[in-house]
Amino acid sequence: MKKQGIAITREISRSIENCELTHLERVPIDLKRARHQHGAYTAALKEAGWEVTTLAEEPHLPDSVFVEDTAVILAGLAVITRPGSESRRPETKSIAKALSSMLPVAFISDSAILDGGDVLVVGKKIFVGQSSRSDSAGYSELGNLAKPLGYGVETIPVKSCLHLKSAVTAIDDRTLLLNPKWVNPELFKEYNLVEVHADEPAAANCLNLGKVIICDDAFPKTRQRIQAAGFLVNSISLDELAKAEGAATCCSLLMPQ
Ligand code: GLY
Repeated sequence: MKKQGIAITREISRSIENCELTHLERVPIDLKRARHQHGAYTAALKEAGWEVTTLAEEPHLPDSVFVEDTAVILAGLAVITRPGSESRRPETKSIAKALSSMLPVAFISDSAILDGGDVLVVGKKIFVGQSSRSDSAGYSELGNLAKPLGYGVETIPVKSCLHLKSAVTAIDDRTLLLNPKWVNPELFKEYNLVEVHADEPAAANCLNLGKVIICDDAFPKTRQRIQAAGFLVNSISLDELAKAEGAATCCSLLMPQ
């Protein structure tokens, strides 16, 4: 398998039961099972050709496994975010340290909020979700950093879900998987669109690893649609992490080589 790049993940915190929740009721999380699923996720990254750097557990930061929210990786620059949820802001310290040994880093300021889960990068286009976790200042600061690198940046309204990437993710640079009830498909007219099955509203978050797409095996009807569109899918169990309002993209930061 061709080497795809470097992926950063982080061990699941023993305090994950105290995670932030916005749209879900709190239910018990089986830490052992969650860690087993996270291990399978990491193995899937490696199998797909990614070199995985796993950061140490942060016992006092419940959501810290969801590294995606702490940074936005662009071509030649990592933007360290300022997460919308105050409890998550300390997560960025170790991420900034890890990323700064790999590429230049810039920071979202203390007067803005931005979660990486709200930032969908598709080729040279960046879509930023208007969610409770990201504000117009975050969008504007990200735009100021990204535009000189050749990116176009646009805001996208979302409803009924945590982040933009709860509603839409990229299967490749031409194809998006989305839930039309959470984000308006008309805003993505220039792309090929695959819609989640109506029985599986939370299925839009899949992770494009280059040659293979990681999907949660809780969504078999949507998986069939992705496969029918011509993509290779690796379905893995992520239901324990889903109880913490996390999904496939949330658990890694990808730096393609
Ligand atoms: N529990 C994930 C988040 O709310 O950020």
